[in-house]
Amino acid sequence: MTERNGDRGEPPAADRGDVVIETRGLTRDFKEIRAVDGLDLTVRRGELFGLIGPDGAGKTTTLRLLAGLLKISDGWAAVAGRDLTREPEAVKPHIGYMAQRFSLYAELTVMENLRFFSELYDVPPRERAERTDRLLSFAGLTPFRSRRAEHLSGGMKKKLALACTLIHEPPILLLDEPTTGVDPVSRREFWDILTELYTGGTTILVTTPYMDEADRCTRVGLIYQGHLVRCDAPEVIRAGIGEELIELQTDQWREAQVVAKDLPGVSQVMTYGESLHLLVDAAEDRLPEIEAGLEAEGITYRSLRPTRPRMEEAFISLVRDREREGLR
Ligand SMILES: Nc1ncnc2c1ncn2[C@@H]1O[C@H](COP(=O)(O)OP(=O)(O)OP(=O)(O)O)[C@@H](O)[C@H]1O
Ligand SMILES: [Mg+2]
Repeated sequence: MTERNGDRGEPPAADRGDVVIETRGLTRDFKEIRAVDGLDLTVRRGELFGLIGPDGAGKTTTLRLLAGLLKISDGWAAVAGRDLTREPEAVKPHIGYMAQRFSLYAELTVMENLRFFSELYDVPPRERAERTDRLLSFAGLTPFRSRRAEHLSGGMKKKLALACTLIHEPPILLLDEPTTGVDPVSRREFWDILTELYTGGTTILVTTPYMDEADRCTRVGLIYQGHLVRCDAPEVIRAGIGEELIELQTDQWREAQVVAKDLPGVSQVMTYGESLHLLVDAAEDRLPEIEAGLEAEGITYRSLRPTRPRMEEAFISLVRDREREGLR
């Protein structure tokens, strides 16, 4: 990492050599819209960091700022030791950035796109064949290697963009919803590759709308209205939402859904296939009241038990807390 200058009020440089992405008060305005609002983020080398947040929270804008593609309105950011307020271009060789709306060369075939990116990023010639074959196979694109990019389906285009982003195995990856619209099997294969890259020391900052993916990250940051409102390991976020979860299995789930909403301590009722998940303030304390409430309405059930919140429930709970605060 290169030395950072100490004249912008950033933290002391000592022992910070493993910090590869850092922002302080990062802000970006689009006219009257403040898309990123005083964001403080620190990502260390080798992390697999998931950025999550509702639509329009500022995730894409953050990634574009970190990729040196947008001008910073206020605050400070550095990636790979390069100060983005001073030399945003300098970061580009160190990162692989996959845009939410990526672009491929429509006229080129799948293989030609991969070759183009491997040349662009100076992949050693003897490694090109192995890497392109592996990425083609991962993306399920081997049978389509000769098809022009413009004739691929939406999902296939996304997979090809992924493959192109990964071809030079950059030390830092900025991936903006890389798996959105990709089928579950490819999604898993993609995450297997991410895990492999992460194990090999690549730092990954990824945005995702899929909470099972957030759960696979080493740390997760929740961004809301342009700033980071929670940032921790997934298990800490799941455990620390201030609400608990009760799982209810019943054949009368439609009726149970209506009744459960109004039971004491229940803030949210979510359906998961045949079961209902009730977000409550205190699971053990509320169980007898919930049992009584369901029985009073003639609802029978197979099981009613506390269960661990998943990232999805944690996300919903945290966003709802913020919305309530906003209304106050
Ligand atoms: N080029 C732009 N011009 C004007 N406003 C913009 C521009 N880009 C983003 N915005 C606004 O900034 C805010 C943040 O947008 P951004 O795309 O960063 O959110 P996001 O978290 O990536 O959302 P999503 O989950 O829908 O992708 C939104 O209000 C958006 O409308
Ligand atoms: Mg986005």
